[in-house]
Amino acid sequence: MTLQHAPAPTTPHGGPSLPQERRLVTAIPGPASQALMARKSDAVARGVGMTMPVFVAAAGGGVLVDVDGNSLIDLGSGIAVTSVGNADPGVVAAASAQLEQFTHTCFTVTGYEGYVEVAEALNRLTPGDFAKRTALFNSGAEAVENAVKIARSATRRSTIVAFDHAYHGRTSLTMALTAKSMPYKRGFGPFGAEVHRAPMSYPFRDGLSGAEAARIAIERIERQVETDEIAAVIIEPIQGEGGFVVPAEGFLPALADWARAHGIVVIADEVQTGFARTGAMFASEHFGFEPDLVVTAKGLAGGLPLSAVTGRAEIMDAAHAGGLGGTYGGNPVACAAALAAIAAFEDGLVDRAREIEAIALERLHAAQAGDPRIGDVRGRGAMLAIELVDAATGRPDADLTRRVAAAVHAQGVVLLTCGTDGNVVRLLPPLAIGDDLLREALDILCAAIANA
Ligand SMILES: Cc1ncc(COP(=O)(O)O)c(C=O)c1O
Repeated sequence: MTLQHAPAPTTPHGGPSLPQERRLVTAIPGPASQALMARKSDAVARGVGMTMPVFVAAAGGGVLVDVDGNSLIDLGSGIAVTSVGNADPGVVAAASAQLEQFTHTCFTVTGYEGYVEVAEALNRLTPGDFAKRTALFNSGAEAVENAVKIARSATRRSTIVAFDHAYHGRTSLTMALTAKSMPYKRGFGPFGAEVHRAPMSYPFRDGLSGAEAARIAIERIERQVETDEIAAVIIEPIQGEGGFVVPAEGFLPALADWARAHGIVVIADEVQTGFARTGAMFASEHFGFEPDLVVTAKGLAGGLPLSAVTGRAEIMDAAHAGGLGGTYGGNPVACAAALAAIAAFEDGLVDRAREIEAIALERLHAAQAGDPRIGDVRGRGAMLAIELVDAATGRPDADLTRRVAAAVHAQGVVLLTCGTDGNVVRLLPPLAIGDDLLREALDILCAAIANA
């Protein structure tokens, strides 16, 4: 660790010109972050938590610079958002140019080309070689809500099936779809009705083939509800908050085949997995999974709020004219940013995610070989996870996970955890991170596990 006793620099500018280094000039958090934390406690609702008590002044490439002048390695990308890199120059230029033209019209009042261009790009890029349509929204949860509305409108049915460990957001309906109570649901009910839950393929825990896991899931669904009442099944092709659970080969296609045989709309929630993150443009591609509707957000606009539902034209067009929308959905600045981000995803970032996977997996598998507490190393591309367990019992070890994260944070690395049992460390670096920074962060993580 370099602990330089230098005064905090004047506010740095973000983007990749920011020195790509880990640099600690204070303990984490430093005094300026602590002062802001105190103001936050007085001004911001308690329910709005923070993973690290650190406030950011600038960010770029693979680093965040805090208000004390510490430069932190970013393994979180603001939860899989700044995949293209923080303050990416292409995104900044496109958004800035749009800001100077106009900031808002409300697309449902008067249109603009950027919205249509984003829709065209998503129709082209999402899985499935069929006619598609897209509608744009602001957040992942809002897009999930709209995917459900569209599926209900197309099928004239109401029931939705979601999975164990699922996370789909924090709005009323998406809380109902989300599996985990704390911190997402407790005290916030009642939740949207007519949601049924099925077991997810979780190879590390269930040891089942994809076909067997699908058979069990389908059996469970059919025991709970009549298939002709089900509007949609919604699933994350690789689960995010639930623990980066990668289903066994064959699970997703078997589910899709069953759904189609019963006229049920298949919705892939690619909010966290989309846009090169997993070493494919969309995670569905890894599994030969062709959903009817795909929900995207996060990485789509390089840090600006934008989300989408894209899917089969006949399903998307089932909603009546005027039935979909919202004041800010498909904001022109966010659309301009998205077009720049999409150009970057198509220009080598899918391959970059695979390079990150190779570097990280080599290091993580080496650590796993010598440590029975690293129960599983899994994921794809730059969406990788370690599941930590008690060496004696094999049970999830959330306490160990908390200690590891705290040690890594203290060393100046932004690291997130997840999992229904709170025992999964997840890696979501910006795809713009350099090899050296990535290796340094992995060394810090592996040392933290070894010493915890
Ligand atoms: C798979 C998935 N769906 C939906 C959401 C909700 O997105 P948002 O937080 O933008 O509402 C998330 C957010 O983490 C997510 O990971």
